[in-house]
Amino acid sequence: MKDKQNQTYRSDFAEEVLQGLSSYPKKLPSKFFYDEAGNVLFQKIMNMPSYYLTNREYDILRKYKSEIADLFQDDKQGFDLIELGAGNGKKTKVILKYMMENGFDFTYKPIDISDSVLKSLSASLSKELPHLKVAPEVGEYFKVLGNLKEYNTRKKVILFLGSNIGNLLHEQAVDFLSKLKDSMLEKDMLFIGFDQKKHPQKILDAYNDDTNITAAFNKNILNRINKELEADFDTDKFLHWETYDPESGTAKSFLVAEEAMQINIRALDQTINFNQWESIHTEISQKYDDQIIGWLSKKSDLRIIQSFGDQNNDFKNYLFKKSEIS
Ligand code: AVJ
Repeated sequence: MKDKQNQTYRSDFAEEVLQGLSSYPKKLPSKFFYDEAGNVLFQKIMNMPSYYLTNREYDILRKYKSEIADLFQDDKQGFDLIELGAGNGKKTKVILKYMMENGFDFTYKPIDISDSVLKSLSASLSKELPHLKVAPEVGEYFKVLGNLKEYNTRKKVILFLGSNIGNLLHEQAVDFLSKLKDSMLEKDMLFIGFDQKKHPQKILDAYNDDTNITAAFNKNILNRINKELEADFDTDKFLHWETYDPESGTAKSFLVAEEAMQINIRALDQTINFNQWESIHTEISQKYDDQIIGWLSKKSDLRIIQSFGDQNNDFKNYLFKKSEIS
């Protein structure tokens, strides 16, 4: 079973990599950043002072934990707190801890496609919050949510933190949010972190640190292709490049070839040619404002119940319910 899963996953990876590198302009999907090395590099990013997102969301959760938890609460049957892509849980633990100390009746259900991420999260939770009910589930978000809708009628609160939604183009975000909405009942809630538009330099600095951690994170996708598909990328010949368009609010990451080269992908029996200064687009990190979020929620038949920002509104968390008319 495990082998079979790996195989289908691997061929997805091969197929999308080949498709992206055969496109013009070239691109690679950011979801492939997160292998073991990529997870370690992303942890380092979250600890960089210039990567303000994690700390600002942490501030919000600390400051408003009681208001937020009271909105989550269901007095009658308790509720399930479902987190999509929980990572190390540093931010979520603020809320979990508060709810445990105040006798809330709930089960925490982190969902992730990575078994090892869930295992280390569960291990740390059983130490820090031994009485917390934890029910992790490995799988694709929508498969797990679909099952929950069928088996479980008590209140669900879905968490999607960290501005992970920012990797999606608006059209994809509407699709994603609409699917979440379809998995919700009237009383269910959705709590999402959105990084906000701000001084463009601050955004560029978050994705272009002078310690080159973000560059290593971006280039890790080439290492991964080398490892998993027997390719021969020389990552030193690529430049990490970040742009931010203050009008659209879109930060974009690129890898730029500093010289012409030919890359062999042995496992696929393919060669890819790069011209000097040709780019690979690897990621978008969308920034939002109230207008965009109002539009996204309307398009997705969600309604905003409340929003919580940090001191400068660098980052905001929004609480949604299903729209009544949908
Ligand atoms: C995990 C998608 C929220 O876009 O800010 C960090 C990933 N990329 N630095 C982001 C990331 C470069 C991050 N998200």
